[in-house]
Amino acid sequence: MDDKKILFSAIQPSGILTIGNYLGALRNFKKLQDDYNGIFSLADLHTLTVKQDPQVLRKNTYELAALYLACGIDPEKSILFAQSHVPAHTELAWVLNTIAYPGELSRMTQFKDKSKKHEDNINMGLMDYPVLMAADILLYQTELVPIGADQKQHLELARDLAIRFNNRFGETFKVPEGYIGKTGARVMSLAEPERKMSKSDANLNAFISMDDDTDTIIRKFKRAVTDSDNKIICAPDKPGITNLLTIYSLFASVSIEDAEKEFEGKGYGDFKLKVGEAVASVIDPIRQEKNKLLADKSYLDDVLSQGADRAARLAYRTLGKVYKKVGLVPRKRG
Ligand code: TRP
Repeated sequence: MDDKKILFSAIQPSGILTIGNYLGALRNFKKLQDDYNGIFSLADLHTLTVKQDPQVLRKNTYELAALYLACGIDPEKSILFAQSHVPAHTELAWVLNTIAYPGELSRMTQFKDKSKKHEDNINMGLMDYPVLMAADILLYQTELVPIGADQKQHLELARDLAIRFNNRFGETFKVPEGYIGKTGARVMSLAEPERKMSKSDANLNAFISMDDDTDTIIRKFKRAVTDSDNKIICAPDKPGITNLLTIYSLFASVSIEDAEKEFEGKGYGDFKLKVGEAVASVIDPIRQEKNKLLADKSYLDDVLSQGADRAARLAYRTLGKVYKKVGLVPRKRG
């Protein structure tokens, strides 16, 4: 670790990721790891807050590790690790729990939403989720956290807890800043372009998964909802075409204006095929690389193990300080 700033990011290994996750998060990591000390985590403990099939969770965890690597995370440059491999996360979460208030946790939008969605399983972990997330971030003296808009409240809590702890016990944690990606990266459903693209959509044609192959991607774009006239331009009354142009511009790395020019006078059929091809040309090689990596579990285990060693070294430095500040007697070693 050199003196670059620390960036921390985590994704839950809870199944399908869409091109929305790619554009909003994964795509940026490769570049960010050059400008920051990147710490990338598989938030496996967070997934336990909703019911998981243990076997599927294990599979998803390897899948996500492979996907990070396939998207260009370099385990020599960055730290890639599983949250559950570094016990300091849950240890710090316990201490942070003693300064977090039930009121502020039960007010969290995501807690309320998930409580509605999983009425039969409103557990303590679901409510405590943001405290574990704060521990993830604060353990590494993180300066920057790239997040989706849905995680803004959680990041705010991490900042509040850092400040609260520092005020009570003296300077201990860096107060992290959030980085919310540009609105251009907001990808909408292919079936109902007024709604955000979601992996949990019952209509499989509404989203592009990172696991879709070229044929599937092209077929899904062919079926994408468009608008009534034939113009290929971004406009508020043309949400379908606007979404497709946005996706094209992001995947083909051209401006919206240039994309509009490129498709001037073309039909929707041609246009949708080009969008599908542009997306497939990025996603398909990633999927193939991911599958290649998945065939070598022992390599993935090694990467995660080395990542956990490096993460633990940093994490326990912070946890040691925290334990000392709150008055816990250090254990005598040797
Ligand atoms: N809660 C985040 C999500 O679902 C994942 C996450 C866990 C996270 N710990 C984190 C994100 C720490 C940023 C920092 O998207």
